[in-house]
Amino acid sequence: MIRNTLLWLSERRGLQAYILRSRIARTVSRRFVAGETLGEAIEVARKLNSVGIKVTLDHLGESVSDPGGATQATMHYVRILERIAQEGVDSGISIKPTQIGLAIDEDLCRSNMKQIAEAARSIGNFVRMDMESSEYTEATLRVFYSLRPEFDNIGVVVQSYMRRSEEDVRRLCGIGASVRLCKGAYKEPESVAFQQKSDVDANYLKLLATLGECSAPLAVATHDDRMIDAGRQISQNGRRDWSFEFQMLYGVRRDVQARLVAEGYRMRVYVPYGTEWYPYFMRRMAERPANLAFVLRSMVGK
Ligand code: FDA
Repeated sequence: MIRNTLLWLSERRGLQAYILRSRIARTVSRRFVAGETLGEAIEVARKLNSVGIKVTLDHLGESVSDPGGATQATMHYVRILERIAQEGVDSGISIKPTQIGLAIDEDLCRSNMKQIAEAARSIGNFVRMDMESSEYTEATLRVFYSLRPEFDNIGVVVQSYMRRSEEDVRRLCGIGASVRLCKGAYKEPESVAFQQKSDVDANYLKLLATLGECSAPLAVATHDDRMIDAGRQISQNGRRDWSFEFQMLYGVRRDVQARLVAEGYRMRVYVPYGTEWYPYFMRRMAERPANLAFVLRSMVGK
């Protein structure tokens, strides 16, 4: 109920404008968002690197509705890649396909994604295509499959709440594609997605087992102890190399991040930054009502 309300609010533009103007909300968002500028994000990446954690940078923004905005976002990602190389930080990038044009035109998104993948390849870097709501799943995968033969430095995301994911995982394994497995963060109808946490978790474990058996690079993206344990198991069964890593979100379960590093696992943290932090921030609130209590307490000054 709270989750659904927060996910609904995450799509309300009116509230977004109000929250973005609030100085307190901006301050509180810093727990999950590195800052508003690339410089601030690089600083956070550097700090994480210094404790053995790799990074993937996300310039916040989604559902861009004009081609000019999509081109601007594309150019910004190329600049991020240049800056990563200049500064020597250990970071890839994560991109929401609708930020670079998927909600406008699939070919536009493909061409922008190609430009970013080329820029990344020229500096030996990697680009992850985030997975958004189910409206875009098929188109995101089409863009990915069309570029993958030319670029092995791109990867995609599979969400365990989606009923179709088992089939997607088989096809992705078949071509050796790099997969980040997560549970899924959007509000989806029952026709396409499991609604019960127990079903989403069971499917996560099932997909993880399949991904563990194929040799494609795998990122286990979760903060859930049960999923992490299953990831450990897979890794110990022969996947303890560069092709296996855990991933978590910036500001979430920092103690567990440190523990996995101490155990010798590759750990990557997803570091978002930028001015458009509202929908991202609201999805994080939806995942854990305790975070909402933390925010409300900060806003009333207690
Ligand atoms: P779950 O939500 O069941 O939480 C398990 C436990 O983890 C909780 O009990 C709590 O202890 C802790 N926890 C979880 N979220 C927390 C939070 N926000 N604050 C504090 N504690 C928290 N989704 C998507 O749809 N498309 C995508 O491309 C991505 N990309 C992505 C990248 C990375 C690196 C991560 C880690 C996650 C994503 N996600 C995503 C988000 C993902 O789908 C999911 O919504 C969250 O990771 C929460 O799911 P968990 O697996 O953590 O389990």
